[in-house]
Amino acid sequence: MLKPDDQVRLETERRAFAMWWAGNRSQPFTLERHEAYCVCDVLFPSFFARRRMEWRGLFGWFAERIPFSPLKVFCYRRLGVKIGRDVFIAPGVVLDPFYPELIELEDGCFLGMGCRIMTHEYTATSFRMGRVRVGRGAVIGGWATVRSAVRIGTKATVGLNSLVSEDVPDGATVGGVPARVLKEKAQEEAEGTASRPSRNTEEPS
Ligand SMILES: CC(C)(COP(=O)(O)OP(=O)(O)OC[C@H]1O[C@@H](n2cnc3c(N)ncnc32)[C@H](O)[C@@H]1OP(=O)(O)O)[C@@H](O)C(=O)NCCC(=O)NCCS
Repeated sequence: MLKPDDQVRLETERRAFAMWWAGNRSQPFTLERHEAYCVCDVLFPSFFARRRMEWRGLFGWFAERIPFSPLKVFCYRRLGVKIGRDVFIAPGVVLDPFYPELIELEDGCFLGMGCRIMTHEYTATSFRMGRVRVGRGAVIGGWATVRSAVRIGTKATVGLNSLVSEDVPDGATVGGVPARVLKEKAQEEAEGTASRPSRNTEEPS
């Protein structure tokens, strides 16, 4: 049984969450954690909401293990992930089942093997959740992790094993932990048009 003050705080946080959810969700939703109740009491107020969350966790676990992209796309759409046309999801990709509705994969993007997209995060004292958008034609490198409330720009590339904790500009290549811009869009375009010999091309003798 909650104390009256804690009950009021819980109701206030539930209302704040409902307003954030009804809005455009462009900014992350954050909460301070309290000892009196769990964040789940704010986000999943009813018995059925909790069971639904657990069911999504189970279905997400199943979808992660499917080796074929079209079937993965089908399952993740059922879970609420917004997925455009010609999206490829490699084996081992983890799409956060906590709030999959917050993930948007635009047309033609490519999620490399074992990469992870998070929509929520706990710390010892706080909680945050936010929308992740992967832009048209963007590539997330293998085993990279994308933090909640981040946008990956159109035709951007995230390097292998990176941690993306802030927005990636359109056309940029980023890498590292935390990810930093390795190449800007202009540089990518210049290199794309330059007549650079391929690494696989042997020098003429
Ligand atoms: C990021 C990536 C695209 C860069 O490739 P590239 O354009 O050939 O770049 P280079 O190899 O010339 O490296 C350029 C610089 O970025 C650094 N770099 C490359 N990949 C990096 C990574 N994942 N994390 C951090 N730094 C990285 C290099 O060390 C180099 O640094 P330097 O200039 O100080 O020497 C490539 O390394 C990569 O991660 N590709 C994986 C794509 C992928 O996983 N696709 C989906 C699955 S198939």
